[in-house]
Amino acid sequence: MPEHARIRSLEEYHEAYRRSTETPEQFWAEVAEPFTWRRKWDSVMNSDMAAGHNDWFQGARLNITENCLDRHLSTRGNKLAIVYEPNDPHTRHLRLTYRELHQEVCRFANVLHNNGVEKGDRVCIYMPMIPQLAIAVLACARIGAIHSVIFAGFSANAIADRVNDAQATVVLTSDGLNRGAKQIPVKRVVDEALESCPSVRRVIVTEHLGWPVHMQEGRDVWYHEEAEGVAKTCPAEEMGAEDPLFILYTSGSTGKPKGVVHTTAGYMVWADYTFRNVFQIEENDIYWCTADIGWVTGHTYLLYGPLLAGATSLMFEGVPTYPSPGRFWEVIDKHSVTVFYTAPTAIRSLMAHDINHVLAYSLDSLRVLGSVGEPINEEAWHWYYTHIGKERCPIVDTWWQTETGGVMISALAGITPSVPARAGLPLPGVLPVLLNQDGSEIEGNDQEGYLAIKQSWPGIIRTTYGDHERARQTYFAPYPGYYFTGDGARRDENGLYRIIGRVDDVINVSGHRFGTAEIENAINQNSHVVESAVVGFPHDVKGQGIYAYVICPEGVPEAEVERQRIEASIIETIVAEIGRIAKPDKIQLVSGLPKTRSGKIMRRILRKVAEGDTTNLGDTTTLLDPLVVDEIISGRK
Ligand code: PRX
Repeated sequence: MPEHARIRSLEEYHEAYRRSTETPEQFWAEVAEPFTWRRKWDSVMNSDMAAGHNDWFQGARLNITENCLDRHLSTRGNKLAIVYEPNDPHTRHLRLTYRELHQEVCRFANVLHNNGVEKGDRVCIYMPMIPQLAIAVLACARIGAIHSVIFAGFSANAIADRVNDAQATVVLTSDGLNRGAKQIPVKRVVDEALESCPSVRRVIVTEHLGWPVHMQEGRDVWYHEEAEGVAKTCPAEEMGAEDPLFILYTSGSTGKPKGVVHTTAGYMVWADYTFRNVFQIEENDIYWCTADIGWVTGHTYLLYGPLLAGATSLMFEGVPTYPSPGRFWEVIDKHSVTVFYTAPTAIRSLMAHDINHVLAYSLDSLRVLGSVGEPINEEAWHWYYTHIGKERCPIVDTWWQTETGGVMISALAGITPSVPARAGLPLPGVLPVLLNQDGSEIEGNDQEGYLAIKQSWPGIIRTTYGDHERARQTYFAPYPGYYFTGDGARRDENGLYRIIGRVDDVINVSGHRFGTAEIENAINQNSHVVESAVVGFPHDVKGQGIYAYVICPEGVPEAEVERQRIEASIIETIVAEIGRIAKPDKIQLVSGLPKTRSGKIMRRILRKVAEGDTTNLGDTTTLLDPLVVDEIISGRK
């Protein structure tokens, strides 16, 4: 494992941190040195935070797949790059060495070329968690096409929004996918989406379930037919450091999801550096990140980070509870997993089952545990630490975001402090600050405020696709000179950060981000709906649940069956507009919403009611119709 820029002790962490903040350009130039560059950079960092312009390694030329694959062939050609564990434990797993993965990526890259994909083209990928997904992503990067992976749980409408926003010309998909006991006809969802996507001229379909699918003449082709006789070598396209590598859509507090853009060199350096240091990766590790490649965690810590480091990354197609709640632990024993990275929601859902599902496995191979996506509550932390890590594995609670490219605040396993309910200390290169509402910095420890970042880092979001002003407004304008995270945080008495949660209208359901406006827009498509307001509420397993207040045109129906019929219809609309993952936990039909005289919905009141805390609703005198609050309280779900 590359020892380069590797932090091995607390002293080394402090030293690296000091250098990364005092002389960041020198620090990152040293970290970047050993990668494969076709040409080195002219300057390391060019940052104008107020404008949201951040360039890293300007002038450098490279291809990230040469760094993920070619670079390792002489020393790790026969090492496993990807271990694939299928949904069904009785189906055969698959292993790909670095050499095999290199060949498969080249082959897919040639297929893309043969289908007219060129550097800079946008390719949307809607595929199951199978090796072909990893191969497809890397094949895009190989030829300089910009990949945009869409989580394969999103609906046809959600796919169409993303494909159209990116103006993608090609879509990569499969015939179907397995998710636990369910099988989903993925290609059919894509077909429906593409009815409203005029930019797409080619769909390349990977056979996975062997299902018959409709192939549209002139548009759709099978991958296995296209790949026949195609060369297993493909020269890597030479990219500029700031050429976009991928777009990944994520929800914000306003409007439709934004296409977060990451570029090539900075993202690469950040992914590799954070991966090796946070998890303290060793050459023989079998590393397993349970995230789907459809989310940023899958991009950085299932795919790019591990491959850049030359590690072995396990890819799991299934779900934690199929065929039993012992599935994760079974996989860990089966493949001797040493580093395990998952989400608090998965831990909480498994905690709820009989502990014998855990005790049936040894879990002896484990060395490091990770958590990501939402705050991990103390109870889940202790369960994870005691029952999974057997009190010998450090837990890294990694705080970061789609926009940050990689981990920002976290323990480095076994090196910096790992305390329950604390993400911990910032990584080298990360300068977190707590801000007051007026944008002034809050000094000292034992303080709480808005979390912002003061200095550019290599993985920082570059823009939102096709609309830089949106990126500037969202992240850089709220507090000029800082990147604004949208999270609130506390710096404890020892300077460790504790993430409190979103301070904007974003809710985090099982580690997935949704804008309340995004869900409201979906609900409002339903003909039974006049207006809606969505808030989050604490949920034992999901972290936050979705609570929707909905006004119907004829008021609240008297009959329970009628109310149920409307609620079911609203759920159907949300599933069609966004996907099953955005299904509200509770829908309350109401005759009005608490609004101020100027027409603004008082979400604070709705949140309180959803939380079940109706004793102290604060000042309601400014409401247009205070009686509406009583009705909402009495009809609370
Ligand atoms: O609120 C924070 C929460 O998830 C948000 C970022 O979501 P997303 O872009 O989907 O990325 C998730 C995976 C990196 C953050 O603004 N969040 C993420 N990790 C943590 C967290 N909250 C607390 N602790 C964490 N470890």
